[in-house]
Amino acid sequence: YQSNDGLLELDLEARERIVELAGRQASLLTYNGQIPAPRLEAKPGDKVRIYFTNNLQQPTNIHYHGLHIPLTGNADNVFLEIESGKKLTYEFQIPNNHPSGTFWYHPHLHGLVAEQLFGGLAGLFIVRGKDDEIPELKAAQEEFLVLQDFSINADGKRTNSAHMSLMMGREGELIAINGRINPSIALSKGGLLRLRILNASPSRFYRLALEDHSFYQIATDGNSLSEPIEVAQLLLTPGQRADVLIRGDKESGQYSLLNLPYDRGSMGMMGGRGMMGRNNRDEPITLATVNYEYAVESMALPSKLNSISALPEPQTVRRFELNHGMSPAVGMAFLINGEPYNHDVIHTQVKLNTIEDWELINTGVMDHPFHIHGNAFQIISRNGQPESLLALRDTVLVKRGETVRIRIPFRDFAGKTVYHCHVLDHEDLGMMGNLMIE
Ligand code: C2O
Ligand code: CU
Ligand code: CU
Repeated sequence: YQSNDGLLELDLEARERIVELAGRQASLLTYNGQIPAPRLEAKPGDKVRIYFTNNLQQPTNIHYHGLHIPLTGNADNVFLEIESGKKLTYEFQIPNNHPSGTFWYHPHLHGLVAEQLFGGLAGLFIVRGKDDEIPELKAAQEEFLVLQDFSINADGKRTNSAHMSLMMGREGELIAINGRINPSIALSKGGLLRLRILNASPSRFYRLALEDHSFYQIATDGNSLSEPIEVAQLLLTPGQRADVLIRGDKESGQYSLLNLPYDRGSMGMMGGRGMMGRNNRDEPITLATVNYEYAVESMALPSKLNSISALPEPQTVRRFELNHGMSPAVGMAFLINGEPYNHDVIHTQVKLNTIEDWELINTGVMDHPFHIHGNAFQIISRNGQPESLLALRDTVLVKRGETVRIRIPFRDFAGKTVYHCHVLDHEDLGMMGNLMIE
């Protein structure tokens, strides 16, 4: 779906359907019957109007992850609740100065987020803007990779995770890219491939590598870097995106996109290997294959992308401790500053048009990717070591034992929204806070 004359308009229906997934019939939660959901594309300045119908058996809503748009009304408002059988029209405008980038949409009703994403509800939302006019990027072959994992039984039914894996965050044994297992991507003319990659899994981390080749990263989350950076591996936590270029060699060949093991921690004190993240014990697996046919010498990489400047000094510094533990109100929960999420409390109040530093301190035994709605931020330091890459992000990995300092400009939009861990079982089990911007 693309915008036309400044308007992106579409019907979107959430419904459980039997679809083909990885060559099997599976009953999944879909938007418009598609896995992944339809890709939406708009430009800065465009209006967006989505006629949404909830035909799931439970309430839901839609969050526009990473977009800098209003947080109230029928826009990026995670406090809306659309009952089963009901409709809602989402309507907002993408600001004229909005960055070009890879964003996405998914349900965000607290308590049901992990389940609904694990059912399949996630799609890309591309903002195509001036960074896409860079000649080398315009000429590159563009592909979109939505990474999702599923747990399906022999009857094609979605299966529930055991309690233990809910603490770790549910992971499925079936890893699909765009709903397919190990799809191939044919690359020929020009020899320059642009991959926009989204981790739409509720809990699974992906550590991506291209056999014998590098990635040239051009964007983190929804924001361009200042120049391409050569990376051997890309770690993508749930919620994160990466935009990378791949250059073909002087001869034809096959490049495998691999997922390497990654240990995101475990409920250590209870012991046992079965409680670890599955990534921990997995062998590298091939997620997709690039079939490259040499034609002409590969096009050059762009030398310059976008200028990013360091954010000014903050007016306020806050600390957020991430851990799990017992909460008198709810029992075992995931906590921020010792508290589980409470719908009725404003956990953090900030002033509109100010800049804040947040120190994210993970005192637990599992990694937590921390996400803030509405405003992208820069990483200032990790464990006190200054971060040199001036990238803007909306989700940052805070590893167990780590302290990450981020700088957030609260711009343009007042209202109530949230920050949370993007391992969505952690979010549903309490690791979220309400943020009031006034
Ligand atoms: Cu992608 Cu609040 O989430
Ligand atoms: Cu989000
Ligand atoms: Cu977490």
